[in-house]
Amino acid sequence: MRYFIVLSAVLVIAVLALATLTAPNRAALNAESKAWEEFHPLHYASYLKNEQVFSDRHPEYPPKLYSYVDHYPGLQIIWDGIAFSKDYNKPRGHVWSVVDTEASLRLKPGAVCYACKSAVAANLYLDDIAGWETVSWDEAAASGDFSNPVGCIDCHDPLSHERRISRTFLTDALSEQEIDQDFIENNFKSLLCAQCHVEYYFKPGGSLEVTLPWDNGFSSEDILYYYENYVMPDGTVGFTDFHNPTAAVDLIKIQHPEFEMFKAGGTNPHDRIGMSCVDCHMPMMPQNSVEIRSHWWTSPLRHVEESCSSCHTNTAQIQAQTKAIQNEIKEKQGAILELLAQAGLAIQDAELEGVDSLLLEEARGYFQKAVFYWDFVAAENSYGFHNPTEARKAFDQSKEYALQILDLFN
Ligand code: HEC
Ligand code: HEC
Ligand code: HEC
Ligand code: HEC
Repeated sequence: MRYFIVLSAVLVIAVLALATLTAPNRAALNAESKAWEEFHPLHYASYLKNEQVFSDRHPEYPPKLYSYVDHYPGLQIIWDGIAFSKDYNKPRGHVWSVVDTEASLRLKPGAVCYACKSAVAANLYLDDIAGWETVSWDEAAASGDFSNPVGCIDCHDPLSHERRISRTFLTDALSEQEIDQDFIENNFKSLLCAQCHVEYYFKPGGSLEVTLPWDNGFSSEDILYYYENYVMPDGTVGFTDFHNPTAAVDLIKIQHPEFEMFKAGGTNPHDRIGMSCVDCHMPMMPQNSVEIRSHWWTSPLRHVEESCSSCHTNTAQIQAQTKAIQNEIKEKQGAILELLAQAGLAIQDAELEGVDSLLLEEARGYFQKAVFYWDFVAAENSYGFHNPTEARKAFDQSKEYALQILDLFN
């Protein structure tokens, strides 16, 4: 009996030693997602689905992605002064993030643009590497160092494979807001996406650090309040992204605030019942006939059964209701953009006609708010679905300010 135990123990140790010797080296895992395939072939296969480009999103692909600029002429006026008026495409899957950024004509202030496009940035943040953000864009792009798109290491620790947040600007924003641990735990899965699917700005003063405007909360009003009261390094008050020559006013450009829209105002029914981005965008799905957590980040309407039917049993009905919300928002988006364009041109005309400068000042103040509220919905990628109440509210505000401008000059 004793011999048997000893023999078994020796055997177990031998097997363990062999396993250790032959085990693939987890520590070698890095920003290249292909290297993770060895450990998780099904998840990697699911991830590769992100290569698909769909004609319902990008009807002229290949080679052309859907360009907002081609379809919304009003963008020439509100984004006059920033290259969003020339180059502004709909997104596509995560594996394209680096290619699409490098191809974009928009001004890139530095390597910091890779912060949410390249998996390489995960380690730069976790290792607290200082100053990489300000390396010139051309130098960073030419180096090839950032060529790995959004991937495993953005959300998983390479050793334990546990999920963790790599973008420390997110944890910084949460701790500065003194958000309690409960919020972080309850929203952890959504926060994995909020590493990138958020509105941000580059800290003025030269460092270009990515910063989130969250001190006052997540709603459009909270974020506008933050920017309007921002104290710049030179002591002036108010943060803006660019100068718009048509209306002769400085404006903010919002970037994809999916997380904020989802959380804003407690008015999103899915947030209210504690759902996360992962519940709809990463449901359990068959991959090579095995059920796994999907790593294909796409429209959940491509897999309504898996994403929605656990609660909405009538999938045709819920799909129709979703489309109805989106169509309403799309229609408003187009109509209000036309009002904004008219308002911008009205300010320009008024200036040429020599209208009183106080009146012009007032109109420009309204223009800043009108454009901000419109963009908070337009730059969010769900056409209002993530929070219909907040989307409608922001559009109402935008419309009201635009009409006030037109009233001023009539
Ligand atoms: C955007 C964040 C994100 C990225 C990128 C990502 N994952 Fe995940 N992964 C998740 C989330 C979230 C879950 C689990 C969801 C749940 O079970 O609630 C998960 C689950 C997993 C699991 C199941 C085991 C577990 O921890 O529950 C594996 C294996 C996995 N991921 C591998 C990968 C691989 C391989 C890659 C790269 C090809 C990758 N992931 C990229 C977020 C991500
Ligand atoms: C490290 C940054 C990063 C993280 C983390 C991240 N994303 Fe993304 N996501 C992007 C970028 C960048 C794009 C646009 C890529 C492009 O257009 O080339 C994108 C695009 C998308 C798209 C659009 C795909 C399409 O085909 O239109 C969806 C959906 C999406 N992400 C969902 C998620 C979800 C859900 C999470 C969290 C589980 C998440 N993302 C986490 C950066 C990220
Ligand atoms: C209740 C389900 C649900 C939840 C939860 C959810 N989404 Fe969505 N998401 C959708 C639907 C539906 C769409 C619209 C897809 C379409 O237009 O075809 C969408 C669209 C998107 C898009 C644009 C996709 C595209 O094809 O262009 C992105 C990006 C995105 N969501 C990210 C997120 C993030 C980040 C979160 C968490 C903060 C989140 N979603 C939470 C259902 C959900
Ligand atoms: C975990 C349960 C759950 C899942 C999964 C879920 N929903 Fe919902 N959904 C709800 C609840 C609860 C409400 C609020 C119902 C009410 O107010 O009557 C809701 C409301 C809605 C509404 C009405 C929103 C409004 O404000 O008018 C739409 C549209 C919707 N869901 C679409 C979807 C879609 C599309 C999916 C999948 C991508 C999905 N839901 C997944 C629980 C869920």
